[in-house]
Order: sequence, then structure tokens, then C-alpha cells
Amino acid sequence: MNGRSPYSGFAPGKLLLFGEHAAVFGYPAVGVSLDRGLRISVTPADGISIRLARPAGGDVAAGLSAFAAFVADTLGSPADDGPVSPAGGAITVDSDLPISSGFGSSAALCTAIAEWSLPDPQVSGHDRSAVWRRAHRLEAFFHGTPSGIDTGLSSLGGVRTFRFSTPGALPESAALSADLPALVVGAIPRERSTRDLVAGVRSRLSTEPSTVRPIFDRLGALADAAIGELAAERNHAAGMAPLVADAHHLLRDLGVSTPLTDGIIDRGVRAGALAGKLSGAGGGGAFYLVCPDAEVAARVAADLDGTLPPGSVCFHMG
Ligand code: PMV
Repeated sequence: MNGRSPYSGFAPGKLLLFGEHAAVFGYPAVGVSLDRGLRISVTPADGISIRLARPAGGDVAAGLSAFAAFVADTLGSPADDGPVSPAGGAITVDSDLPISSGFGSSAALCTAIAEWSLPDPQVSGHDRSAVWRRAHRLEAFFHGTPSGIDTGLSSLGGVRTFRFSTPGALPESAALSADLPALVVGAIPRERSTRDLVAGVRSRLSTEPSTVRPIFDRLGALADAAIGELAAERNHAAGMAPLVADAHHLLRDLGVSTPLTDGIIDRGVRAGALAGKLSGAGGGGAFYLVCPDAEVAARVAADLDGTLPPGSVCFHMG
């Protein structure tokens, strides 16, 4: 229990590789936690307040104050995710992830708060499922109906697969000891929130099931194929590229990409990447491109960097 003493903790962001949106409806997914993330510092206080260490634009401050009330309610209501923290705290958030961009800043915030609020053995022990369960409950504030994959990546870390066997429950997650190919990773400001994008896809599934269900089936098959590719002992760039390209086209057909994201991916491919896709809920936000090697990835990142709108980030990994 981190109770009534000052506390500081870090939780990583994530990059979804395959399975976004379809995961909300029980299809498999795979992703990786990032080195970048978010740190919280907590000083003991009555009640819960949350503020950003560095000011951000838009409605972020108002959103955080509503989230603080949700955290207080959630931590105050008994559930199956371990003992409830009796402590309050003034939480300051410092993020090196762009907020609400598809890099899992909300999942990292939920994970960091879950860690703060749980007893130490459940945080530092081998079994991190209590952290994940609590972070998942908190993530409902941001996503409405989270699948659990974002908080799973932030809570458990590494390259991970997710498979859903019980509707409504968290998925089973396994670590993959895969070396990812060289990637260019970026994010542009979002035009719509994850909550709206997920709700839009849900509504399309109910009005146009014969269009949307086959898209999910194919996204699920691509996630499965990507998990198979990543489990094999070889360089994954050539194997992943066609899966990445197909998944992006399906997400575009689902209506969650934007012309700007499509244009960035086309430009990255012209600069030498093998393929690219959006990552996360879309509406702008995160994307990645698979490159043949680190040298090409550095070149593609440099080419894209100057062309992205203000508030974007772009870097290469691997
Ligand atoms: O956190 P985001 O915006 O990258 O998106 C989350 C991924 C979704 O599959 C769209 C939603 C979910 O809960 O799995």
C-alpha cells in the first residue's frame, strides 16, 4: 500500500501492432510496450486530484478533473481487483507521450494510478494481474468499453499477444520473445476520441453487420498471422509487411483512418518503408511503418518528420 507517503511511479505507453477495434469484439491482438511513458508523483491529500506537470491544450485539464472523480468512485467501490486504497492523493502527471494520441497515455495513467493504489506485493510481485485488472476498470472512463489490451501492455510490458476466451472478461495475455523489425513510429493529433471511434465502430457493426463482421474476421486472421510470424526465428520485416498493409486497408474500410494518416503512410512507403498502418483507435493518432533495416527507418523518419502537423511526434525503433 502506498498510502500516506509521497509516491512516484512510471508506466509505459504502447504501440498496438495488430488487432485494434476487432479486439473490442473478441478478436486477437498483439502489441508492444514503449520505452516512453508517463510518471505520476503523488502527495498525500484528502480526496483525489489530478493535474498535469506541464500545461496541455484543449480540454485536458477538465477531463482530468472528471477522471479524478471517477478514480475516487472506482477506488472507493469494492470489486474483485484487490483491496481498496483508503488514501487520497494529489497526483501530478508528467508524460513524455503525446496525450490522447494512440500511444496509450490513458492506459499508462490508469496503470500508474492502479500501482499507486494497490498494496506493494501486488505491484512488484510476479503476478501483475491485480494491477492490470484495476487499470482496466479505470480505463473505462476514457474508452467506454475497453478491450483491456492497452492496459495489458502498460501493466505487463514487452511484446504481448491477447486472446479472448470469455466474453466481457479480460483477455489472456502471453509474452512473445520477438525482436521487432525496424519501425518508424509516429502520432499526429487526433480528430476524434477513442471513445467516439469505438462507439462509431460498434454502431456500424449493428447497422451494417454484413460489411463490418467480415472486416473483423479478416483483422483477426491478420493478427493471428502476425503472431505466427513474430513467433518464428527470423527477421520479421518481409513477413510482417503484407499483413501491415492489409490491416491498414481494412481499418480504412472500417472508417477509422483519415486522409492525413493515409498520406503519411504513402509518403513513408515512397521513402523506403515496406508498409505502414495506423495503430490504435485512429481518427489521426498513432501509426507505424515497417522498414527493411534501421538505416532505412532513420531515413524514413527524417523524411516524415518535417511534413507532420504541429503537435506530432515521429521516431524510429529497432
Ligand atoms: O488507446 P488507443 O486509442 O490506441 O485505442 C485503443 C484500441 C482499441 O482497440 C480501439 C480500443 C480497445 O479498447 O481495445
